[in-house]
Amino acid sequence: MFRIVVLNPKGGSGKSTVATGLAAMYAARGYHPALMDFDPQGTSTRWLEKRSRNLPEIHGVAAYARTIAVTRSFQLRVPQDADPVIVDTPAALQTQHFIEHVKDADAVLVPVMPSDADIHACSRCIGHLLISGKIKRRENRLGVIANRVKPNTIICRTLMRFLDQLQIPVITTLRDSQSYVHAGELGQGIHDLNPARVHPELAQWEQLWSWLESRRHAIEPAESFAAAH
Ligand SMILES: Nc1ncnc2c1ncn2[C@@H]1O[C@H](COP(=O)(O)OP(=O)(O)OP(=O)(O)O)[C@@H](O)[C@H]1O
Ligand SMILES: [Mg+2]
Repeated sequence: MFRIVVLNPKGGSGKSTVATGLAAMYAARGYHPALMDFDPQGTSTRWLEKRSRNLPEIHGVAAYARTIAVTRSFQLRVPQDADPVIVDTPAALQTQHFIEHVKDADAVLVPVMPSDADIHACSRCIGHLLISGKIKRRENRLGVIANRVKPNTIICRTLMRFLDQLQIPVITTLRDSQSYVHAGELGQGIHDLNPARVHPELAQWEQLWSWLESRRHAIEPAESFAAAH
């Protein structure tokens, strides 16, 4: 089961937009994605509640809602054929918690916006992941998404320079677009909208798709070997 974790302790960087957008993209392509929401704000869960039943299905898990009625593992279960599992995490996540999330992830995506505060938070977050040893650069499972980018602005150039220095791949750049806001309100992702209206956005998501698929192919031979022995 391919597991994608979206994290950045900085609030409002685009975690839920990326997590829900990924779920919509995989569902549109015939996969059976599960969307796990660890954020007590429940943004992804609310998004899923708004989603029309006529759209490709996404299985939701409100992982933030602790209950004593069932065991934690029962609460976090996903259907056997769920693929991929997409994890949306809360802001202000403490180091030990985001290390927990990263442990079993096949792909870790960090959306970062072009602002001083976001660049600072992103550098701390990635620093913690690397220093803790939970992520190693050579594993190539960590990628950054530059989000809400307005091309040719000074802060955007600063962000790109910073990402370059980090030596962590920038998987894609998502432009600042009201389509994300409209889609979000309807429980939809970019892939549920009229393609003619979101052509530039779709091209940017395609880069994310390619990187994720290359990650999947990189781990699958290892998994089949483990299953056979
Ligand atoms: N590329 C984009 N273009 C325009 N608006 C965007 C884009 N990405 C995100 N947004 C908007 O920014 C706001 C914050 O995004 P989002 O909720 O995804 O961030 P978050 O990191 O999940 O926030 P939190 O830390 O509170 O969970 C939302 O209103 C969303 O619609
Ligand atoms: Mg969120």
